[in-house]
Formats: sequence, C-alpha cells, structure tokens
Amino acid sequence: MNNALSDIKSSDVVSSDKSHVWHHLAQHKPMQTTDPMVIVEGKGLRVTDINGKEYLDALSGGVWTVNVGYGRESIAKAVHDQLLKMCYFVNSAGNIPGAQFAEKLIDKMPGMSRVYYSNSGSEANEKGFKLVRQLAALKNDGKKHKIIYRDRDYHGTTITALSATGQIQRRDQYGPFTPGFVEMPHCMAYRAVNGDHPDYGVQAARELERVILEQGPDTVGAVILESITAGGGVITPPEGYFETIQEICVKYGVLIHIDEVVCGMGRTGKWFGYQHYGVKPDIVTMAKGVASGYAAISTTVTTEDLFNEFLAEPSEKMQYFRDISTFGGCAGGPVAALENMRIIEQENLLDNARKMGDYLLDSLYELQEKYPVIGDVRGKGLFVGVEMVKDRKSKEPVSESLTAGVVADCLQQGVMIGRTNRSFTEHNNTLCLSPALICTKGDLDEIVGAIDNALAKVAI
Ligand SMILES: Cc1ncc(COP(=O)(O)O)c(C=O)c1O
Repeated sequence: MNNALSDIKSSDVVSSDKSHVWHHLAQHKPMQTTDPMVIVEGKGLRVTDINGKEYLDALSGGVWTVNVGYGRESIAKAVHDQLLKMCYFVNSAGNIPGAQFAEKLIDKMPGMSRVYYSNSGSEANEKGFKLVRQLAALKNDGKKHKIIYRDRDYHGTTITALSATGQIQRRDQYGPFTPGFVEMPHCMAYRAVNGDHPDYGVQAARELERVILEQGPDTVGAVILESITAGGGVITPPEGYFETIQEICVKYGVLIHIDEVVCGMGRTGKWFGYQHYGVKPDIVTMAKGVASGYAAISTTVTTEDLFNEFLAEPSEKMQYFRDISTFGGCAGGPVAALENMRIIEQENLLDNARKMGDYLLDSLYELQEKYPVIGDVRGKGLFVGVEMVKDRKSKEPVSESLTAGVVADCLQQGVMIGRTNRSFTEHNNTLCLSPALICTKGDLDEIVGAIDNALAKVAI
C-alpha cells in the first residue's frame, strides 16, 4: 500500500462509506450488519480490498471496463500532463487529444467519420436518440421518430435509455417512459423455439421487418442493437442476423445504431463487436473500455452522411445539432483513450483477446461436460456467458440465488465473476466473464478453477 493510503485508517473509511455512500445496484439493508467492500489498489488483473485481501478480477472493474488492466503508469502520466496543461474547455472548441483521438478512432472504423464526445454510455446513446429525433423533425415533420430496441438489450440508466431497454426488472418502477420506443424480440438461439434451425438468424432479424410494418415504415427512424448483448446474458448474434437487419434497414430507410458500450475497444477480439458481422452502422456508441476506466469518456460516432444532414446554413438557426455535454470537454478523457488505444495496439491485445477468448470458451465447454447445470456457454473474445439451468432439456433457469451463490463462492476463493442481475423476472441465471485483455492462460485457469469449485458445492 502506498504512503498516502497507509496514513488512512481503514476503519474510518469503512465508517464514512457506511454512513454516507449510496452504492450502485446495492441493497443497503444487509450492509448495516456487514462492511462494504472497498477497493484500494489494482495491478494488472488483480485488485486489493481495504483489508488487504487480493482478488483476481474476471470482470474488468465489475462492469467490463478496465480493458488494459490496472496500474498503467503511461495512462496516468498522459492524463497528469494533459490536466496540468489544459484540463477542460467546453467542446464547442477543440482540444489537442480530442482531435487526435477522433482521427485514430475513425481510422479503426471504416465507413464512420464524426466523433461526438460525452461521458457515459447512457449519455452517448441519448445523443444517438436525439440525432434520430431531430433528423425526423428536419426531414419529415417529426414523423419518422420511432426507435426500435430489442428484448434483453440494455442501453443505459437514464429514463430515455431505459425506455430503449428490454429488461423488465431494470425498468420496473421507473416509468412512465419516453414515448416512441418500440420493442422487438431478441435473437438468442438458445432460448428460441426454432433456435437450431439453420435459418434462425434470418428469421430472428425478420422480426424487425414485422415491427417496422406494424408501426408503419414512415414512422420508424432507427433501430438500436447491442452487437453482442451484454447484461442481458451475453448473447452472440446467430449467423445471417446482422446481414438481414442491414437489408431491412436499407429497404425501409431506418438508421442502424449499434451500442458498443461493452463490446467496443477490443473486448471481443476486434476493435468493435459489429465488425465481426459485416454490418454498416449509421451511429456507433461506446464508453467503458474507451479509456479503460482511467477517465470518464464516451463517444457517439456517426457517418459523414448523417453529419451532413445537420449542415444547415448559419441563418437556419435551429437546424444544427443543438446538444452539449459539459464533461465532453474534459481533455483527460481523450488523452487517456489515446494511450489506451496505443497500449492495445502495441501489446497486440486484440490478438490476445481472440486467443485467450478461445481458450476460455474451450475450458468452459469442458466444465459444461462435467456439470449438467451448465446449459449454454457462449461468447466472443474475452466476453463470455455461462447460462445455468435446472434441466438441460426444459432449459428451466436456475434461481437467481443459485447464480448469486456461485458468484459469492468464487469471491470467497478470491476470484470476482459477474452474473445477470435483477434484469429479468426469470432469467437472472447467466454467469458473466470479461477479464482484462492482457490475461494469460494461467489467469483463465484460475477463474475456471474457481467456478469449478463453486459448482461442485452448489450445483450437483
Ligand atoms: C450495452 C450498454 N449500453 C449502455 C450502458 C450504459 O453505460 P453507462 O453506465 O456508462 O451509462 C451499459 C452499461 O452497462 C451497457 O452495458
């Protein structure tokens, strides 16, 4: 522990935390009799809590964020130097790392052209929704304003991002929601009636066409999709899915908004998840791994065609994108993102994510042979889900408490894994893994070993 931390009394920190911090996604009642976890240090894939216990973090900061691992001095130094030189100025002006990162980012995203900065995944998605709404207002009296989203996808925590979210428990008690958002079914082969049909991907995508026709094509402006659904259970799209989505969107003049908040920046073994599937988006949003959590940054990236729709004459006072994000002007975000990207390139982390991802999947398939409770293993790169069922034939999900028991047992063994959490009424039954892109076979053996031990206890 460094000097500054060693001067801090851990009991004081715990007491201040218990008295005053309202934690995210947390039930506080149990914390009245137990202490909260306080993380004080991180290096590589390992974090240490305030009591000195070390954990292997198989989730990159709990929510698939710290892609290049903890303790990166070069990112800290880049941010330090930039903040001393110029910390902030509203993004109606430019800054040096903002311009440089935008160019580097676009270089990784053929077909895309413009980068709009903000500071969370929810906010980046909101920008996308506002672009669609304003475009509808500019082009056809607001008629083509509806946005279609998918069952099981999550797009953020604000009321409008929740309006576009297909997870019933995440939405519950937070309505009424923003009008104009319409749900379509998910594309999860494992839980589809005809999921093993060779044409399932095409059929699942045709649901988009059905919904567009139901709503009226002249009312639908966009569809938002996670390239691989994250918190909804790590759902990889079936073959033919995105190609058909693209075809339908071209046919009906519907924009494609891909949410890369989780999959972006190398998580799946390519820069972006959608790049596995040959789809050409109009809007791409990203956050979490963009600067691996070293600074808060998100971006909404668009094509030049979409940008050009907002290029009105200066005399047209209401026809440009009249949006702002105060902290979109923090220069620490793009400078951290630049260094993060340099690390991913220099250390060949996309390659590592692909190789280690395959190794992780193979290890989990082996575990699946040992434990009937593992119904499905799926994922891409270092982004993997393990769905647990009471019975493989009926696919009846295990209880949320059983999944939570596996996670808690791994934590006791010193390995942090995740799970779908209060998202669905019945399907909070998927374990989630997203270790940093620097992980080794040894790290993955430790993670899978902990799950093996936990399953041996709770899921015979
Ligand atoms: C796919 C996806 N989109 C958007 C968000 C929202 O991001 P944020 O929490 O930064 O607002 C999340 C967060 O988990 C996410 O998983």
